[in-house]
Amino acid sequence: MPRLTVNEQPLEFDMNPDTPLLWALRDAANLTGTKYGCGNGDCGACMVIVDGEALRSCLITLAEAEGRYITTIEGLARDRSHPVQQAMVAEQAIQCGFCTPGIVMAGAALIAKNSNPSEDEIRAAIPNLCRCGVYPRLVRAIQRAGRVERRRETISAAPAPGISADDAAREVPALRLPQTDSESQE
Ligand code: FES
Ligand code: FES
Repeated sequence: MPRLTVNEQPLEFDMNPDTPLLWALRDAANLTGTKYGCGNGDCGACMVIVDGEALRSCLITLAEAEGRYITTIEGLARDRSHPVQQAMVAEQAIQCGFCTPGIVMAGAALIAKNSNPSEDEIRAAIPNLCRCGVYPRLVRAIQRAGRVERRRETISAAPAPGISADDAAREVPALRLPQTDSESQE
């Protein structure tokens, strides 16, 4: 059974190793923030971070994800305070809930490597499709997130989520924080 770490939680999936990671995350781990758009690598709605790289989870099998470290939108920041999330809200770059999680994940992977990206670098790193044309705001948001990452700016724009991370984790095992050895023996 494929084993991987999802949002810092080691998980073992009792599924066919050929299953796309997208379906394992959504259907088995109950992490429905990762969206199914096209299923063939075009839209980017299914983007997750795999060992630091933003990858389309519809194109990766569980077997290929074996042993890797996956972060989904739910695990990016337990209180939604990641600079990309904050800047997307502040720049009104959030349009539909279908594309936004994948866009945020691609932006977060970019900012982690390059906190001062040019417009061209942002467009190359975030190839996600969006029919509503959010791209100009998106570029501004990612550049603003970079400034937050570089501690040139702070943002307090995003509203409180109204959902406690601990409550969410009760329903979604992959959001639980890793147990210590002593806790797991209780
Ligand atoms: S669902 Fe994976 S790229 Fe569209
Ligand atoms: S954000 Fe979904 S279509 Fe633009």
